[in-house]
Amino acid sequence: VSEIARVKNLNRLQIGRHEVDAWYFSPYPQEYAHLPVLYICEFCFSYFPSQFMLGRHRRRCTLLCPPGNEIYRQDDISFFEIDGRKQLTYCRNLSLLSKCFLDHKTLYYDVTPFMYYVMTQRDSHGAHLVGYFSKEKECAENYNVACILTLPQHQRHGYGKLLIEFSYLLSQREGKLGSPEKPLSDLGLLGYRSYWAEKIVEAVLNAGEEISVDEIAQATSITHADVMNTCTTLQLFRYYKGQHVIVLSESVLERYDKAKSKRRRRIDKSCLQWKPPT
Ligand code: COA
Ligand code: NA
Repeated sequence: VSEIARVKNLNRLQIGRHEVDAWYFSPYPQEYAHLPVLYICEFCFSYFPSQFMLGRHRRRCTLLCPPGNEIYRQDDISFFEIDGRKQLTYCRNLSLLSKCFLDHKTLYYDVTPFMYYVMTQRDSHGAHLVGYFSKEKECAENYNVACILTLPQHQRHGYGKLLIEFSYLLSQREGKLGSPEKPLSDLGLLGYRSYWAEKIVEAVLNAGEEISVDEIAQATSITHADVMNTCTTLQLFRYYKGQHVIVLSESVLERYDKAKSKRRRRIDKSCLQWKPPT
């Protein structure tokens, strides 16, 4: 593919009652590129060149929630687990849509090695996509997230952190530590840094003063490397009586309290009905 063909092709996307700008190139078929607006079915993510054709599709499309197992439900928030091998078209369409907001990753044309964890918000019409992450079924590096996305119209409301929290809950159920696939985007890094800081401070507060990096990792399912990096960034390591200890500063605690009061939603472990896929 030439460089010219890879510049951002689409302009706007209509998804349900939202219309948003595409941020980056996504390899939709040639005949859909350069349309002023691409019309996307908010339940199956099929795409159409006109409102009329979307309308015709909507009258036939029977999907009201993602085509997989609902493994989590709390109030209006659900997570569905979808096997890329079993729902090829759905997962390909979701990948095409998410590529519009992801610059740095190559799109996974082959969706079969991934599971997709799709988070929805329910209303009287159905379970609407808010965000999702994909996860490699067999991952040598123990990555617990490949791609992660909150739809632009839902960003900055805490849903990214909810997705991240859920990904670590799955790792915990697997008895593993996990980390997102690198490289992270700028926004991905902001989201993860904020999540890691919150969880590490929480673990320190829960344990009292003395807690090791390993204990934090075990309590949070965050890898030692990510715990170490976060502690270093937050300047939590102090050298005391010949040993490194983790100490929370006033400013870190202040930021923690502020973030905590802002956090509207949390994952409730007891709402997850899931065993690691075999
Ligand atoms: N500018 C500054 N900070 C931002 C930000 C922005 N545009 N977007 C998110 N953040 C910060 C929030 O302030 C929050 O930190 P805080 O709680 O300490 O204030 C943290 O990131 C998480 O915010 P949240 O609302 O939970 O995340 P989100 O729903 O907006 O989703 C992403 C975060 C990364 C999933 C979302 O930005 C996204 O989908 N981006 C495009 C795809 C992408 O880059 N994915 C990552 C690939 S590795
Ligand atoms: Na993907």
